[in-house]
This record gives sequence, C-alpha cells and structure tokens, in this order.
Amino acid sequence: MKGYLDNPYHSKVHAQDVAQTCNFLLSKCKFIEIGQLDEQDIACVLIAGAIHDYGHPGLTNAFLINSRNELALTYNDQSVLEMYHPSQCFKIAWGNQKVNIFENLQFHKYRRIRESIILMVLSTDMAHHASELAITNSRIAAPDFEPNGKDKQRLMDLIVHSSDVSNPTKSFEIYKQWTEKVLAEFWLQGDKERDLGLPISYLCNRFTTNTAEAQVGFIDYVVKPTFACVLGFLPAYEPFFQNLDKNKAKWQELIEYYKQQLASIQPK
Ligand code: CMP
Ligand code: MG
Ligand code: ZN
Repeated sequence: MKGYLDNPYHSKVHAQDVAQTCNFLLSKCKFIEIGQLDEQDIACVLIAGAIHDYGHPGLTNAFLINSRNELALTYNDQSVLEMYHPSQCFKIAWGNQKVNIFENLQFHKYRRIRESIILMVLSTDMAHHASELAITNSRIAAPDFEPNGKDKQRLMDLIVHSSDVSNPTKSFEIYKQWTEKVLAEFWLQGDKERDLGLPISYLCNRFTTNTAEAQVGFIDYVVKPTFACVLGFLPAYEPFFQNLDKNKAKWQELIEYYKQQLASIQPK
C-alpha cells in the first residue's frame, strides 16, 4: 500500500475499501460458489482490488491527456492510469525478490495470473463502462452463459469494477464521506484546469457542481445499472441493492441545500 499517494480520494484507504468490497461479493454474495473460483482466482480478484489505483496522481485520464503529461505520452492516451497502475506493481514485484509473490510460480501459471489481474484493472476504466456492461448483460441473458467457465473472467472484471463504484451502496454516513473526498479531489483538478486555461472537466468546477445532484446522476447512470448487472448473477446481493434507492432519496432532499451553498460561494 506504500505507493498510494495521499490524495483526498485515491489513497490506500480507497484501495483497501475496494479490495474488501470484492471480498464481500466473493464470499457473502457467493461469487466463489457461483463462479467456482479456485484459490488462484480468489487471489487474483483481491490483488486486482488492492492494486487497481496504485500510484494514482489524483488527476483523471482526461487531465493527463489534455495537459500532455508524460503518462499520457507513454500509454498513447489509452486507459492511461489503468495501464500505469498494474505496470508499476509488476515492475516493483520483479525488481525486488523480497516482495515478488509471483517468483515461484510456473511460467504458464504466472502468465495466466498476470493476464487476469491486468484485465480486471483495465476494466476499471470508466471509458469502457457502458460498452462492457452491455456485453456482460447480454452474456448473462444468453442460453450458453457459463459463470464458472467461459464467462468467469468477464464476471471477475465486473466484481472489481462494481466494487470500485460501490460507495453509493454503503450506509449514507460512509457514502457521504466518500462523496466529499471524491469531489474534493475533482475540485483540486478543476482549480488546476482553470489556472492552466484548460476546459474544466465534468464535476470538477467547485463553483457550479451541486454535490447532491451529482450523486443522483451517478447513482442513476452508473451505479444502479452496474449493480443491476451484478444482481443478474449474484441474487444474494438483493438486500444491499435497495441501499441505492434509499441513498438517492436522501440526496434528492439535499439538492436545495447544496444550491444555497453554491450561491453563497460564487467567485466575485
Ligand atoms: P476510480 O476509482 O479510478 O474509478 C472509478 C471512478 O468513479 C472513480 O475513480 C471516480 O472518478 C468515480 N467515482 C467513484 N465514486 C464516485 C462518486 N461518489 N461520485 C462521482 N464519481 C465517483
Ligand atoms: Mg482507477
Ligand atoms: Zn478506484
């Protein structure tokens, strides 16, 4: 966890939270049984959850691309951070025998584990969210759907991606803290964009973003469709799915309050 920076949101606590949410979906929601995961699959999911934002600079892919950052140049503007996170981790493992958990694996096994972890981290790129979700939904509905066979990796990808956007599924008290953290990070980026004369990214303008409205949109367009898909193959998730509507209703009640807050901080 050492390589996680002290960002408001993308810190080691977010990584631990995502790894723990993966663990919850694997065990409590029975993905281990449904996907017939072996020890190796379980280790891959938990490792992917733990490393999925490793070294995150607190800035989005769009910012790195627009500001011609070195990382965007290295990864040709394609899933810049999601390429960077596992790349750094595998480099660290192979650069130091003491921490190389892969060292004693047979090469073919190592190749499979490495491929699986990289696929799961790449699946956390929000740019692929809608297209991948559509494919996963159609696989779940297909007559030859095999959660413990040919569809297993796709479902493992969704376990990590859904855990990554799972804060709206938690209790409102916890969720509200994550929201404040993610927006604090977005707004620091927005301040940088303003200073550099770059377009200010969505949700990154501290003077115009209504926190409650933003969360209603995030639940409706991202989180609910994601967990509806999870529910399609993990029926044990059902009782937790209801938190989304409860939390959405709480934010809806707060929209007017945040409107007034914004009116009071308008720049002169
Ligand atoms: P990351 O953790 O890299 O991948 C998932 C992204 O979803 C995350 O970065 C944020 O950009 C976004 N995200 C997660 N939680 C929220 C939230 N509560 N509100 C808005 N965006 C969020
Ligand atoms: Mg990420
Ligand atoms: Zn993340």
